[in-house]
Amino acid sequence: MEQQSIQTQIKKLLKERNAVLLAHNYMRDEVQEIADITGDSLALSMEAAKTDAEVIVFCGVHFMAESASILSPEKTVLLPRLDAGCPMADMVTVEALRDLKKSLPGVPVVTYVNSSAAVKAESDICCTSANAVKVVQSLEDDEIIFAPDRNLGRYVSGFTNKRFHLWEGYCPTHERLRAEVVQELKQNNPDAPFVCHPECNPQVVALADHVCSTTGMYDYCRKSSAKRFIIGTEAGILWRLKRENPEKEFILASPALVCPNMKLTSLEDVLEALTTMQPVVKVPEETRVPAKRALERMLAIPRD
Ligand code: 13P
Ligand code: SF4
Repeated sequence: MEQQSIQTQIKKLLKERNAVLLAHNYMRDEVQEIADITGDSLALSMEAAKTDAEVIVFCGVHFMAESASILSPEKTVLLPRLDAGCPMADMVTVEALRDLKKSLPGVPVVTYVNSSAAVKAESDICCTSANAVKVVQSLEDDEIIFAPDRNLGRYVSGFTNKRFHLWEGYCPTHERLRAEVVQELKQNNPDAPFVCHPECNPQVVALADHVCSTTGMYDYCRKSSAKRFIIGTEAGILWRLKRENPEKEFILASPALVCPNMKLTSLEDVLEALTTMQPVVKVPEETRVPAKRALERMLAIPRD
């Protein structure tokens, strides 16, 4: 079936089902194109919490759909590809986190939203890449456990005097970006600021002119007077960057910056999900309630 015809059918079904389509900034171009809302993890969880729609079609990865289910248990949350996971989220298990908590009694756990609902349920507060510094600064404790992203944790630790116990997780996609590659690109394109995501490794982050979440990148590139940018995050971000700034040029720092999980969801998958109303992601109450506490504590911190 032709792309346009699938998009038309999806739009029709969205209306019939009283559904909203949320898409992460890393989704395929044609999926972002039909989304009601595109955004970063923080923006999408806030949208999921406030929408009046009865059905949320979450085009993203599993932990994002879980967050929507945690915040809106009365809604049906569809994840068109149940196999779209996040390898970083899988790097922390409830059992291992419990063991670490036992060895560090009283030390609060700050957990990146890229984690399972069960891990969130074991955490004191969540954070995203957009609010991690503020979240950590909101805590009075001198020590924190930060899971699962060691790179985001290390980056945030530079903004406070707190002692960080870093989990050894990382994003395999961002980790593929090497500092030598960025250095060469910067030398060859001295007019182009290098903007990167804090999931990149510390050597790469040290080379950045600006470090931010995916939504932070849209703001930065729109407001900047520069005409060209070197982009250090997943390739999906380019679609909206180019659309919003047709006169500017965006250089992806490496062709390896493609997350296979974020690329799984096709228009056909979205259509199938809306037709069959499957697969549904539903977090059980005993996990949902404590996980919601950690997410809501984060959402109470105002966004800039
Ligand atoms: P943000 O959209 O929060 O910057 O997230 C990046 C990411 O890797 C999501 O999986
Ligand atoms: Fe997970 Fe990285 Fe893919 Fe985001 S880009 S879903 S953190 S593997």
